Amino acid sequence: MKMSAEKYFIALEEVRFVTPITKGVELLVDSEKVRFEFVKDDVLKIKISQAQSFDAKPTFAVMHDEFGPVETKIEETAKTVKVSSSKLSVKIGKSPFKFDVFRADGSKVIASVPGAAYKFINDQWIVERKTTVDDVFLGLGEKTGGSDLKGRFLTMWNTDILSPNSDGIARDTNSENPKENPRSDMYDPYYISINLLYNVSKVDGMASASYFDNGYCMHFDMQHESKYKVMAEGGQLTEYVFAGPTIKEVLKNFTDLTGVMQAPPLWSLGHHQCRWHNYSQKQWLDLAAIYRKKKIPCDTLWLDIDYMDEYRVFTWNKKQFPDRKKAFSDLKEDGFRAITIVDPGVKYDPGYPVFDEGFEKNLFCKTDGGQTYIGQVWPGRTAFPDFVKESAREWWGRLNAEHVESGLAGIWNDMNEPATGAISPSSMRWDRDGGNHPHERYHNQYGMLMAMGTVQGLKSARPEYRTFVLSRAGFAGIQRYAANWTGDNCSDWSHLAMSVPMNCRLNICGQPFVGSDTGGFCDDTNEELLVRWYQYSAFQPFMRNHQCIGNIDQYPWSFGKKSEKLIKSAIELRYQFMPYIYSVFMKSTQDSTPIQTPLSYYWQDDPEALVNSREYMFGDALLVAPIVEPGAKERTLYLPKGSWYDFYTNKLLKGGKYITVDVEIDKIPLFVKAGSVIPLAEVVQSTMFYQPKELELRAYLPTKKGKTVSVLHEDDGITDRWKAGDMLQTTITLEKTGKQYKLSGVIDGNGFPENKRKSFVVSFVGADVADKKVKDGLTNFEIIFDN
Ligand code: GLC
Repeated sequence: MKMSAEKYFIALEEVRFVTPITKGVELLVDSEKVRFEFVKDDVLKIKISQAQSFDAKPTFAVMHDEFGPVETKIEETAKTVKVSSSKLSVKIGKSPFKFDVFRADGSKVIASVPGAAYKFINDQWIVERKTTVDDVFLGLGEKTGGSDLKGRFLTMWNTDILSPNSDGIARDTNSENPKENPRSDMYDPYYISINLLYNVSKVDGMASASYFDNGYCMHFDMQHESKYKVMAEGGQLTEYVFAGPTIKEVLKNFTDLTGVMQAPPLWSLGHHQCRWHNYSQKQWLDLAAIYRKKKIPCDTLWLDIDYMDEYRVFTWNKKQFPDRKKAFSDLKEDGFRAITIVDPGVKYDPGYPVFDEGFEKNLFCKTDGGQTYIGQVWPGRTAFPDFVKESAREWWGRLNAEHVESGLAGIWNDMNEPATGAISPSSMRWDRDGGNHPHERYHNQYGMLMAMGTVQGLKSARPEYRTFVLSRAGFAGIQRYAANWTGDNCSDWSHLAMSVPMNCRLNICGQPFVGSDTGGFCDDTNEELLVRWYQYSAFQPFMRNHQCIGNIDQYPWSFGKKSEKLIKSAIELRYQFMPYIYSVFMKSTQDSTPIQTPLSYYWQDDPEALVNSREYMFGDALLVAPIVEPGAKERTLYLPKGSWYDFYTNKLLKGGKYITVDVEIDKIPLFVKAGSVIPLAEVVQSTMFYQPKELELRAYLPTKKGKTVSVLHEDDGITDRWKAGDMLQTTITLEKTGKQYKLSGVIDGNGFPENKRKSFVVSFVGADVADKKVKDGLTNFEIIFDN
């Protein structure tokens, strides 16, 4: 965006002093300090000062990086310094300054380009590193295009992609250049910035990664054959280097720093109905009634900006919604929860209490000249809460808490990049500890800080309940507070296809709770696209139908009976899978396992799986191959090594190759990994009625000797009492020894008062064995049979 001409950058060249520190070394290189410090055996932190001082807390992403002592060895010669832990070493060249990072087995993690290990001009800096044609780049969060980022130049600057007004970023919906056209599936930058770049070698399948903890605009240039460059427009270099060598280990370490998703309410995993539309209270309730009449499962109804009084946040248009409390309680009786949008822009309107309070208490962002910063959003002129300030986050939290008192279940945060419309954000200033910081420093973190304040408020209002916040913007760590949807996509097949690698990328960057607008947001959708998008969304972590104002209807029934039936059965399939989906989510809250997972996560040493962008794992048992083109009659897909069952035919298939399957309009190709036991429930219209008396455990028999483990997690779905043991966790082990199979369930936890489940029915795929009933499914059980 605004990097200076590279030829003027100054390289750090001479190491002048080497000082041992607790877990590494600190160098004086020319006139800057460079610190190499082990955070863990397999995580190295690199910091480079500006004017010899370090920024102790560059962003809000890293919660802490103190994980206890790390045994460190320092070896110094006249020309080099080597610092090692048991898993990583950094070898530093003293003149010219450079550093290479290796694993203990000698394999490369980072190799600096000589003369360009670090160069800077003013506050901007560039690092250049060697790469080869065998390296694949993954990660970087919400990016367009396929999984492998090789060949791309990507910018990290949270952007309202459809706004024609830009911050120096070319953006034109008519442009021939796909990078400049937000309607293309190569547009960049997007709404969320997560500076976690993975590097995986196709040769040995080993993964490493770097997280750059810097909120300023950054660029990742991977267009060159033999090197890649990381550039920052400001802020310091604070880099966490992860040794891997598995993607799983990288992600675990990354979320140890930045946090995991909090347990979501069960209802947030259901089907959501949203639309930018000027609903009256009656129309909105009628919509709920149609859902129930047609028996199409749906958990929530959402309200977009038109419920407000002239877009003033935390107000209601009382003409349209004369009795919202009654509306919410009527909805609740029918099993619906309600969510409204809350944008950060507060209408500049003296006399409007929210504006007045923010102004009087000095809670809005200022300009350089000390005035209240004014931008432009839906209400016209708007002030922006300075979420960098704790007092502003607290205030916002309180406003949200009051807002949901009328009976709302969750909050939808939008325009929080922040989008300032036709008014440039460049004069916006942030107040951190009384300091006056430039807009660029916190821009990318604004959405996360807004969600942080919102969650704090909701938690203080209802401490016993889990929160649900959906955010458009985000930064590393956003998963601690909110789910993300991928913003204003288009009703276009290419955007449906793009959603797969985009969601997967977010998942391996710590944010598992993601989804694209089902049916597409911009432009009119069409029948087939809506059906296919719904079928895909049944297996997106977040499943919400949403569309732009003025477009043709895209309700499940909008295109007639045939597609209504198809969409209904896609939604029903999701509800049937609910015990599995919930268990997958709950696992992720504990160990950061992704939910919509690129094949590379499980098969990184398989070059086909490594770059795959068209299929994914939903949890660790289900492979999903969505249909992303019109008129599909067949689908070619990659099945990774192992044995798989076709979900519909139960046919056993061998993996490690591409297969082609016939595709009918009523199916999304789904494959179950042999050895998995999938818990399934009866379909309900809303998770509010989800109190199954019995669950099916569908065991997909392994073809090889050995044990596989699946976990079913059950609890009340709305509180955190599960943390104190009020839950049921069934660890299901399926073991094959010769012809014999043993399926055993070990139950953990104290149970929970709302539980109605008593039994299981175990069914078997891959064997001609009758279903078996486990009458007492609350104590350990065992089933042994031959096949
Ligand atoms: C933005 C959001 C979209 C919303 C609209 C009106 O474009 O991305 O989801 O419907 O604003 O609030």
